[in-house]
This record gives sequence, C-alpha cells and structure tokens, in this order.
Amino acid sequence: MTRPQVLVTREVFPETLDYLARHFEVEANPSDTPFTPAELAERLSSKDGALITLTERIDAALLARCQKLKAVCNIAVGFNNIDLKACQARGVMATNTPGVLDDSTADFTWALILATARRVTEAEQYLRAGQWTGWKLKQFLGTDVHHATLGILGMGRVGQAVARRARGFDMNVLYHNSRRLSAEVEKSCHAAYVGMDELLARADILTVHTPYSPATHHLLGAAQFAKMKPGAILIHAARGGVVDDAALVEALQRGPLAAAGLDVFENEPALHPDFLKLTNVVLTPHIASSSEATRRRMAMLAAENLVAALTTGKPPNLLPPPA
Ligand code: DGY
Repeated sequence: MTRPQVLVTREVFPETLDYLARHFEVEANPSDTPFTPAELAERLSSKDGALITLTERIDAALLARCQKLKAVCNIAVGFNNIDLKACQARGVMATNTPGVLDDSTADFTWALILATARRVTEAEQYLRAGQWTGWKLKQFLGTDVHHATLGILGMGRVGQAVARRARGFDMNVLYHNSRRLSAEVEKSCHAAYVGMDELLARADILTVHTPYSPATHHLLGAAQFAKMKPGAILIHAARGGVVDDAALVEALQRGPLAAAGLDVFENEPALHPDFLKLTNVVLTPHIASSSEATRRRMAMLAAENLVAALTTGKPPNLLPPPA
C-alpha cells in the first residue's frame, strides 16, 4: 500500500522527522529557507499533508493547485497565515499547537518587561562600545516594575500566565479581553477586568497577548496610544499587525510612551526603519516561544496533528479552536 506523502516546509528537529517517517513518505526542506509561493505550490501539489510554519501562506490560490491535500499542520499557535475558510471550502484540515508554548512565551514577555523598564540592552550596548568610564548616580535611570500597574490586553492562556508571574513583583494587574473571565480565573490570576479605555489610561506597562485577525488589526494605534499615561511602556510579543507600528514609532518619539519591548512586527522580518534609530526600544526577532524544549514540543505536536489528521481524520488541534 502506498503511504501518504507529506511536505515539511522548514527545518525541524530530527525526532520530528523520524516520527513522520514512521507514517509517511516525507519530503523535507533541509535548507530552512522558506519556499517561494510558486515553489510551495509546486511541491505541495502532489502531497497529502504538510507540516508548515507561520512563514507559509495557505490560501485559496495555493489550495486550488493542491488537489490531494488533506491537512496543513502549523508549528505555531497563531494561524493567521492560514485562510481557514479556503481550507474548509476544500475539505483541508488545518491545525495549530495550543497549550505547549504558554509558559515559555510568558517567561519571555517578562524578559522584555524587565529589559525594557530597566534599559538592559541599551546599557549593555553602551558598555560593549567601551563608553563606560565609571559609576554615576543618574546612569540609565529606569522605571520600577515592582508595585506598578500591569495592563494585559488579551487574557487567554499566555495573558493569564503573564498575570500569574506579576505576583512576584507585587503588581496591580488589570486586563481587558473580548470576554470577561470567570471570577475563579480572575482570582487565580489576581487580575481585575476593566474596559479598554480604562486599561489604556491606567497601565504603567501594557502587554499585548491577542491573536491577529481582521478584528484585531491595529487594535493599538494612534488613538489608543494617545489615551495612555505619559511614561508608559508597551510590550508586544503577540503578532505583528495587532499594533500599528508607524503609530507606535510616533508615540515613542513624541510621547506618551517612554519605551517599548517588541518581539513581533507588522511586516517582519522587515522592521519600521525608525525602530532601529530609537534607543528606547528593546527589539527581538520573534523568539518568545523559543526555548529548546518548547520549540521541540511545538514541532512534535504539529507532527502528531498531521499523523492523526491523515490516519484518523481527527487531529487533536483542529481549527478553528473550540469557542
Ligand atoms: C506562535 O506559536 O504563534 C508563535 O508566534 C510562533 O513563534
């Protein structure tokens, strides 16, 4: 009996490929250079399934060329690279990797909070450049995180994990979410629900944890930044496009924002050129979930979804996610 054929679009871990090879004929991209859309369509046209990443766009035009395709399994919890309606129309299952990256992403959000508030990367660059001539009372004066008000926009699994970590810093935690959480979850997170305007007005540090969709496109832009406190800090490790990067640059140059810690960008890997000119931003290349253990778990969960999709038709993380 011929085995299903699958494409692995980017470099993954050896155990992920070994697992897939036990079930399928695997064509893997060893170079880790993303395929062009034309190359992707060409390679996928003969495949039953694919292990993909957020750098692959799965849309109606691509699917029209992939008549055999039954499943696309994202190595990511975010799935804005997949047109779910187009998948459903063609009977293609799409999956993501929820639940395995929440703690790593929350840890990294805290790395950004602390690095941004206490100017860690700016100070390190100064030191490495040989500019440090000695201790000064007013050197790299930062913002205290302890006892500050942390605003969380988007209180799903990652937002909640960020909130739980805020206890160690004795913070006042406020959140806004499309749906208010149960009293029990609010209590476990020590977080109080507020409206969007109140969140913007009261947060000393605002951290974004909403998925990207047409509904969250530019959820934070000029009008929202104008409502924030002078000296506030923005942290963004969710998805490019939720924040209007041009408006953020303005808010960092002219106020009210004092600083930002950013792991994701609207047109990544391209950056708004002014981010690189600003000293009050900490910039990282979309690595919030990138601990070795977590990235291995994400790849394996995506592979498990692919095996389940093509063998039972019931992958554990079928999209759209349950409401
Ligand atoms: C995700 O899982 O959506 C992350 O952004 C991948 O890094």
